[in-house]
Amino acid sequence: MSLFDLKGWMQVHLDRVEAALSDAIQAESPAALGQAMRYAVLDGGKRLRPLLVLATAEALGDAPQSVAALNAACAIELIHAYSLVHDDMPSMDNDVLRRGKPTVHVQFGEAQALLAGDALQTLAFEMLTPQDGSVAASAQASCVALLARASGYQGMAGGQAIDLASVGQRLSEDQLRQMHRLKTGALLLCSVQMGVACVAGAGAGAGAGAGAGAGVSDAAQTALVRFGQALGLAFQVVDDVLDVTADSATLGKTAGKDEAADKPTYVALMGLEAAKAYADALADQAMQALADTGLPDARLAALRALTATVVQRNN
Ligand code: IPE
Ligand code: IPE
Ligand code: MG
Ligand code: MG
Ligand code: MG
Repeated sequence: MSLFDLKGWMQVHLDRVEAALSDAIQAESPAALGQAMRYAVLDGGKRLRPLLVLATAEALGDAPQSVAALNAACAIELIHAYSLVHDDMPSMDNDVLRRGKPTVHVQFGEAQALLAGDALQTLAFEMLTPQDGSVAASAQASCVALLARASGYQGMAGGQAIDLASVGQRLSEDQLRQMHRLKTGALLLCSVQMGVACVAGAGAGAGAGAGAGAGVSDAAQTALVRFGQALGLAFQVVDDVLDVTADSATLGKTAGKDEAADKPTYVALMGLEAAKAYADALADQAMQALADTGLPDARLAALRALTATVVQRNN
């Protein structure tokens, strides 16, 4: 058992992320669009992606209060929240429950949900590009490039397109892996990569974290990419498992939807027990990749603990 206090570590970071997200989205806004955005983002969600950004940056020696990493943490959560708003809409998964509340389109109407998603997406890029000199230009540029690619047609949106085009079809394991890598894995990998970029790209300018990352080795970066890939796939395999094994109250979203909608999932492909075993194997791969970074154990404690929660979670 690790002595690392994950709960304590998480609480400090979750409080910072929550406050920054709330500051970033004003309720007062044209036609109350900000209210739908706040509803979509605040008071819910495990915040795994922001925590991964912050834990990765810290593992590489980032300053504890780094603005770059906090902004990147918020940006990835905004993209994730937008993806959920659109994922739940009638034209996609047609879900009525998300994070224990009615979905955004149920609460605010479809047009407002569409716009809230659009606006959350652009707000993410606004957060990555503060104009006050607090984040080095090189780190800003790296994060924008990473997040744009991970969100777009070669990332999350592309994966969602495959998901919808695959309803009722039997995908091969390779096809299913590719779909999961894109629709879910891309943003999780991007969380890790932005954590790296905030440190490695911070050397060129003034402000918090500047100069901290001069020494992120290629080996550590490569191993962290492998970590993000394994964790991202594990996360969606567990999501597929929980759709079958958990109840709606615990999940905060409607259980059993994948089978009802005839979605290709790891449970459909290989059965429940094999899917669980596969998630465990991917988590082991992620842990091994962390060891391969060569970073000191103490620096890796938060990433290790987050990895364990991905496979042990119940929602
Ligand atoms: C749900 O993601 C959608 C997937 C990509 C599987 P999360 O399980 O991270 O959802 P929240 O953010 O905690 O609500
Ligand atoms: C959603 O996958 C992935 C994205 C939102 C990009 P799912 O459709 O499986 O997510 P849930 O189960 O509705 O959260
Ligand atoms: Mg979906
Ligand atoms: Mg869905
Ligand atoms: Mg799901």
